[in-house]
Amino acid sequence: MEKIVSLCKRRGFIFQSSEIYGGLNGAWDYGPLGVELKRNLKNYWWRVIVHERDDVVGMDGSILTHPSVFKASGHVEGFSDPMVDCRLTGKRFRADQIPSQSGMVFEFQQARDAIPPGESFEALVQVAAPHLPAEDSVSLADALKIGLLINERNNLGLQTPTKDPESVLQFFLDLGHALSISPNASLAKLGEQFGRNYTSNPIACGDPFRVLIRGVENEAKARKTAEKLAQEFYRKRGLLFPVVDLRSKQPIENTRDFNPENGAELTSPRPFNLMFKTNVGATEDDSSVAYLRPETAQSIFVQFKNILEVSRKKLPFGIAQIGKAFRNEINPRNFTFRSREFEQMELEYFCRAEEGMKWLDYWLEERLTFYENIGIPRDRLHARNVPDEERAFYSKGTFDIEYDFPFGRQELEGVAYRTDYDLLQHQKASGKSLEYFDEETRQRFIPHVVEPSAGVDRTILALICEAYAEDQAPDEKGKMEMRIVLRFHPRMAPIKCAIFPLLKNKEPLVAKAKEIVALLRPQMTVFYDESGAIGRRYRRQDEIGTPFGVTVDFETLGEKDPALRNTVTLRDRDSMKQERVAIQDLPAILRERIA
Ligand code: GAP
Repeated sequence: MEKIVSLCKRRGFIFQSSEIYGGLNGAWDYGPLGVELKRNLKNYWWRVIVHERDDVVGMDGSILTHPSVFKASGHVEGFSDPMVDCRLTGKRFRADQIPSQSGMVFEFQQARDAIPPGESFEALVQVAAPHLPAEDSVSLADALKIGLLINERNNLGLQTPTKDPESVLQFFLDLGHALSISPNASLAKLGEQFGRNYTSNPIACGDPFRVLIRGVENEAKARKTAEKLAQEFYRKRGLLFPVVDLRSKQPIENTRDFNPENGAELTSPRPFNLMFKTNVGATEDDSSVAYLRPETAQSIFVQFKNILEVSRKKLPFGIAQIGKAFRNEINPRNFTFRSREFEQMELEYFCRAEEGMKWLDYWLEERLTFYENIGIPRDRLHARNVPDEERAFYSKGTFDIEYDFPFGRQELEGVAYRTDYDLLQHQKASGKSLEYFDEETRQRFIPHVVEPSAGVDRTILALICEAYAEDQAPDEKGKMEMRIVLRFHPRMAPIKCAIFPLLKNKEPLVAKAKEIVALLRPQMTVFYDESGAIGRRYRRQDEIGTPFGVTVDFETLGEKDPALRNTVTLRDRDSMKQERVAIQDLPAILRERIA
């Protein structure tokens, strides 16, 4: 995956958003090549779903959405993920993504501070005062320093504490004792006062804390590791030298209560609503709340009646939309796979109730074919029949189309039969009829809907992962070297054809190459490159997935063989084979291969 992320940045497909300010987690910017790839994908989806069909029309809804829409759809109440926090670092996780773990759990009951409390400390300062420079200001944190000074000045011979709070505690106990038995009467008095107060040091933090240590081989070592984490936990709660109090230790199996990264205990799960809320207009109160839509689908349902009327479609028919959606994901991860801002390509295909399951199967097959047609082979795709217990309560059937990403098999698209749930909800909440009138049967009813909902960004990521390859290609001298190539389907490739004059300092070659650029540019994306050896130029294009390369050479000028005048070599990125074709045939040949 690192190689893919690095190529995406190096060649201008995808950058981290706000990168120069340290990046905005879960947001991505598409560069010059990324945006072409994305447009090709969206255009092809639109072509197949809308333009090539009679039964689908499009729409483009607003992102800012009235709160009533998401109250009716159930998002305000229920669009949440269970969230847990690490009690040590505060890092947030989705509870359902915590892996099951086994090991030894160390439970700490409380901790007290090895630093003497106020009164004892006063006593310490009194003892040390004659030795301290007048301008020295003292604070609680100086206690140890002062204690060490007293030890040294009075030759008490106490062992210097290590960084371990236990040894700091012991040091202060010893100090109290040493002072109280001092032959110097005033020191002994202060020592008693110090010792008395010190031993009565109250519990400073009574918060229990648990740590999981996995794969314990040496129990003493595991305990030390657990104690270190616990000390950090109590330090964050204000203790300077926390002396931890281990209550129990016991083996545990298959728990999801601990941070998989550090073993610290997690809080109990609580729901976290994923919608981004904002305020519309100048006032910031409940009356001005709006949401950034978390899916494009709801604006389709809300506009159902308007679109039905203007398009005069009959069931079954669909409304399609491509657009941004926003979710405040707890854990954006796997590059663009789980982002907070992303794009969806959604179709709501309305039908009669009795045909819902038929259309579900139909759209699953259509969508699998779509992925094949953009270069993702069927054997890398998996249609998962989502079981009852995982499906939304209103869905009668859902398939997840999954792809084998380098980080595992993950969802690309959901194809769901949502019944009449959404339209019914909006009809109820708005009080406006969203019924369909069947002219043949003279019946009014709420249509059912099947929804193929795909992620643009996830599909782009799948396209890049699928296209990425490393193979061997000859260098300038014919020696084989490693080449990085993106084997995009020509339909998806950001640049369709690169055009090279063999030599940049031969004016007729350059002029002819520029003529070809002018010929092809109105029909496809092209790239002109005259710098560097021809092999290097091919390699640069291979790395960004340009499927075709045209080279203008001396034969093009008819210098060797007049029959070859106005022909060029056409190189195929994947086979690296070259064929000689007439310039005038180039547009048709390329158009056919790209289609
Ligand atoms: N209207 C139905 C719906 O939104 P979904 O399964 O939540 O269903 C559909 O989302 C698709 O949107 C997913 O299959 C995925 O491709 C994309 N998607 C969802 N959340 C995403 C995220 N955080 N980042 C990128 N893509 C996401």
